Amino acid sequence: MTERHTPRVVPLLDQRSAVLSTPTAAFAAASRIGATGLLSDQRGRPLRDLRISVTDRCNFRCNYCMPKEVFDKDHLYLPHSDLLSFEEITRLTKVFVAHGVQKIRLTGGEPLLRKNIERLIEQLATLRTVEGRALDLTLTTNGSLLARKARSLKAAGLQRVTVSLDGLDDAVFRSMNDVDFPVADVLAGIDAARVAGLGPIKINMVVKRGSNEHEILPMARHFRGSGIVLRFIEYMDVGASNGWRMNEVMPSSEVVQRIHAELPLLQLEPSRPGETAERWGYADASGRHDPQLGEIGVISSVTQAFCGDCNRARLSTEGKLYLCLFASQGYDLRALLRADASQADLESAIGHIWQARSDNYSESRGAQGADSAPAQRRVEMSYIGG
Ligand code: GTP
Ligand code: 5AD
Ligand code: SF4
Ligand code: SF4
Repeated sequence: MTERHTPRVVPLLDQRSAVLSTPTAAFAAASRIGATGLLSDQRGRPLRDLRISVTDRCNFRCNYCMPKEVFDKDHLYLPHSDLLSFEEITRLTKVFVAHGVQKIRLTGGEPLLRKNIERLIEQLATLRTVEGRALDLTLTTNGSLLARKARSLKAAGLQRVTVSLDGLDDAVFRSMNDVDFPVADVLAGIDAARVAGLGPIKINMVVKRGSNEHEILPMARHFRGSGIVLRFIEYMDVGASNGWRMNEVMPSSEVVQRIHAELPLLQLEPSRPGETAERWGYADASGRHDPQLGEIGVISSVTQAFCGDCNRARLSTEGKLYLCLFASQGYDLRALLRADASQADLESAIGHIWQARSDNYSESRGAQGADSAPAQRRVEMSYIGG
């Protein structure tokens, strides 16, 4: 069964103007924290992954993210002057990298809608980690513009892409994106990414019970043995507009069971600390993992929170720093940038912010066992990015 509209969407409470008090340049200078690459927060978590939202716009209306009823023609997107420029993004990214960031993910909204995104990628591709290595430079896209852009993205220095795809059946896919976008065009985009060498490619499928769970097996069969890693994501109570209910979440354990019943799986070791996905490999006839058949991932932020080693920071389209996907407020770094803060001031300010961090939203929501999202105001995922 597919669902065209979610009746329970909640009007948007605009959290975008809410800011936490950002250390001023004077404070940052007086109480200096230099960038050593060894920064850690209150729970000893390092800063490794920076997700940068380059636009709050999207040409899809996935009902778990930007429900049509809320993100309608009257929705006010950020004016262009509010967005960080590519130079500003690069300047801030340098500071994060000096603090130990190794991976940059460009997100949105839909990042390929940002004009000349290739220019930003060119600038970011020149940066090096504290150890002198190239950054893991990647991008999450809905795939709609990928067929057109894969080659120029690769040429600009992008290493890989993750494509969101919630089903293979055209009717199901059209109803999930809610703008009648055909699945064939996204599949063509994935193919173009493969030809361009934007790998390893990952596919993210949000599983929403009652909407697309029948697509789990067809998706697994389609991508098994393709070299592409398919990841199943539990539908989350992110943002405040999607009317989230626990009974629409399919636990990852059930996804694994369903696939394992037809295509045997065995659990694999994590590939690095702080990974969002639990990895499961396809088994051969003797029950061992067959790398040719590949693997799937399950991302269980609802049933098995992974806050314990969360090393991710998020930079919103207009330059606010969020320490958690579920935060209700961010730190205004654009104000600091535009007040002519020096590199050392920015390093110190970000150092202070990260050192004070103790966020663990998914863990604490899980402990409460809530069936609906807590009433706390949270920013939308289309604004800070996945
Ligand atoms: P890879 O480096 O390719 O493994 O990427 P990733 O898994 O770190 O990032 P990706 O953006 O592909 O994450 C997939 C999905 O996991 C997101 O779209 C979110 O739904 C969810 N997710 C990512 N990061 C977090 C997080 O910090 N907290 C929670 N609760 N969910 C997250
Ligand atoms: N639950 C889980 N994942 C979500 N995303 C957006 N909204 C949600 C949600 N409510 C993620 C999906 C999508 C990416 C852009 O953001 O993974 O692929
Ligand atoms: Fe757009 Fe991605 Fe959100 Fe869907 S999940 S509305 S494609 S930003
Ligand atoms: Fe990190 Fe917040 Fe997600 Fe926990 S809920 S993993 S702290 S972003």
